[in-house]
Amino acid sequence: MAPSPLLTPFTLADDLKLKNRMVLSPMTRGRTGDMQRPDKMTAQYYVQRASAGLIITEGTLISTVANGWVGAPEIYSKGATLAWKEVTDAVHAAGGLIFCQLWHCGRASHSSFHAKEGKAVAPSAIAINEPTIHAPIGKVPHEVPAPMTVDQIKETVADFERAAANAKAAGFDGVEIHGANGYLIDSFLQTKTNKRTDEYGGESLENRFRFLKEVTEAVLKVWPASRVGVRLSPNGVYNDQGSPDFREAFPWFVEQLDKYKLAYIHFIIGLGFGFHKLGEPMVMADFRKSTSSALMANCGYTKESGEKEITDGNSDLISYGRPWITNPDLPARFETGAKLANDPPVGVWYSPGPKGYVDYPNADGTIV
Ligand code: PHB
Repeated sequence: MAPSPLLTPFTLADDLKLKNRMVLSPMTRGRTGDMQRPDKMTAQYYVQRASAGLIITEGTLISTVANGWVGAPEIYSKGATLAWKEVTDAVHAAGGLIFCQLWHCGRASHSSFHAKEGKAVAPSAIAINEPTIHAPIGKVPHEVPAPMTVDQIKETVADFERAAANAKAAGFDGVEIHGANGYLIDSFLQTKTNKRTDEYGGESLENRFRFLKEVTEAVLKVWPASRVGVRLSPNGVYNDQGSPDFREAFPWFVEQLDKYKLAYIHFIIGLGFGFHKLGEPMVMADFRKSTSSALMANCGYTKESGEKEITDGNSDLISYGRPWITNPDLPARFETGAKLANDPPVGVWYSPGPKGYVDYPNADGTIV
């Protein structure tokens, strides 16, 4: 029998050889404590999943004001950079490849995450229309974010560049720019959250794209394009996101990114994370003609639907999230047909400590 297409090798941008097409999707796990630094347990978690063709880390904060998630790690300090080096060394020793996802939460934050900087920052002063955010001081109402000045935008671009350089020093194989899920970059891209009247906003696609363009170009000062990916969520409602022109805007953004010949564009395309219902949801096939970069599809894929996406030519890579939490040896299970453990309960997604994190066994009962 021919091997599953998911288990065939793939070369990313003629540069990086992935042993299979199954990617560990970036997942916030909230386990790095007040220090926001990865530790031995973080390394164990990623090593357990090193049979992925590629690991993408959980969102990793590029500056203090970027922080909007309790227990999420950072990569702006020297200490965190050194701590990540231990993780990448361990993953490499286990035969894995690992990209760092660079994250700025934008308006999905609260002043109690960064007392010095004060309010969360965003393109426009529009609060998330949801009841509360989980902040260091507990569950609190969302604040109206401070609209960024052009100087702050430039500083943030520089923060992305510094974080990308730290990721290189930390031994990562590449970086993913988090442009999805209503966080800072996505909130520049979309009309729902970007009401600016300057060159970074408004109805103009070019203006809304400018921040992602500058971030991408800053990251490309540090990394070759073959080691940089971007993640987008055209259908997403998460963080109160979703804009009526999404079917026109996202292919256009992807066409603009094509000029950089990035390693891949990663789409949260499945609807399991919630979708905005502002039109027919987009599918992977909508993006093939917009880019020569590899495509990565995410959210809710099974073995069968992932295989079909690859066989039909709509995607090159599939990233798996929840199934990989409870099945650390997911590629082996797909290969042997071993039974999959159920998805984890929501209660352990972000809870501190090893439970629901590093305590899931492989199919043979061992815990690595
Ligand atoms: C994200 O970084 O996209 C993200 C983080 C935490 C969530 C959901 C999405 O719960």
